[in-house]
Amino acid sequence: MTNTVDQLTIQKPDDWHLHLRDGAVLESVVGHTAAQFGRAIIMPNLTPPVTTTALAQAYRERIVAALNKTTPDAKFEPLMTLYLTDNTDSDEIRRAKESGIVHGVKLYPAGATTNSDAGVTDLLGRCTKVLEVMQEVGMPLLVHGEVTDPSIDLFDREAVFIDRVMLPLRRAFPALKVVFEHLTTADGAAYVSEAEGPIAATITAHHLLYNRNALFQGGLRPHWYCLPVLKRERHRQALLQAAVSTSGRFFLGTDSAPHARGRKEQDCGCAGCYTALHAMELYATAFDQIGRLDQLEAFASLNGPAFYGLPVNSATLTLKRAEYVVPDQLPLAGEEVVPLANGTTLGWVVQP
Ligand code: NCD
Ligand code: ZN
Repeated sequence: MTNTVDQLTIQKPDDWHLHLRDGAVLESVVGHTAAQFGRAIIMPNLTPPVTTTALAQAYRERIVAALNKTTPDAKFEPLMTLYLTDNTDSDEIRRAKESGIVHGVKLYPAGATTNSDAGVTDLLGRCTKVLEVMQEVGMPLLVHGEVTDPSIDLFDREAVFIDRVMLPLRRAFPALKVVFEHLTTADGAAYVSEAEGPIAATITAHHLLYNRNALFQGGLRPHWYCLPVLKRERHRQALLQAAVSTSGRFFLGTDSAPHARGRKEQDCGCAGCYTALHAMELYATAFDQIGRLDQLEAFASLNGPAFYGLPVNSATLTLKRAEYVVPDQLPLAGEEVVPLANGTTLGWVVQP
């Protein structure tokens, strides 16, 4: 890493939590990620979800075909995941491991977020055999860490998830690799920092840069709505401290989740922020705001590969200090998507 005041060159980063969708939307978005990242963990919440190695293999081929069509020069590797259901078979985990293309299994508590209807209803009741095999073969469990109990306040669902699901899960499977995805609270950051055993967490750029006021800035702002929802300022501050810590347990995961404008600007708008276009601009701006660009490379490029047991990318990425105005919209399969923080000015730009 070289770090002067106005320029930063780091090993090429990876995105450890990404939604690419499928079909024409996939073709619209995949080039944005491939322009900044060497690899990405591809979330399996398609309709229907990616529940088997065969489906993951076919989805991977569609991603590679979309890349070849839209960005043929990109060197980008999709790292596939399976969607855990109450009915996932433990043999499927062995097949996934042997395939070499599946790098994690995603737990969506049923009903927690976009396309999670097929998710798990009772993790320790229904998935014990699967979790045993995952622990045995070293397959990480990627966790959407929110309870779905409607009696729990939306802003408390991550903290309650730790007590109700994470603690019993990790007591029962202490050697299971677990990624607490898109961490949003001080409670989550403290848990991941202090817990024993193989646990890590991804943090999005939007949870590092913005608090829940952004959802109501001058009116109701659907393009700032994602799940887990933005939290209070004290949680944002705790996430920043986690992201720049030297624990190695926190790494980059954009959770970039494209939805067409009309699907967000409506009654009952979809959850998800689009950040693939300007991910590193957002993260660099966040780290710079607290004077900790020195830790950006570990967070973006080193900690993730170490946890997943993969090599660090050999290429590099250079960012320059410059004003970058986020565009107001981008084409998305004949419609448009509004990128997060559209119209605002960020402090860093990725160099081509
Ligand atoms: C994601 C999506 O749209 O697929 N939405 C979101 O708000 N993050 C799903 C998810 O990761 O929860
Ligand atoms: Zn996600």
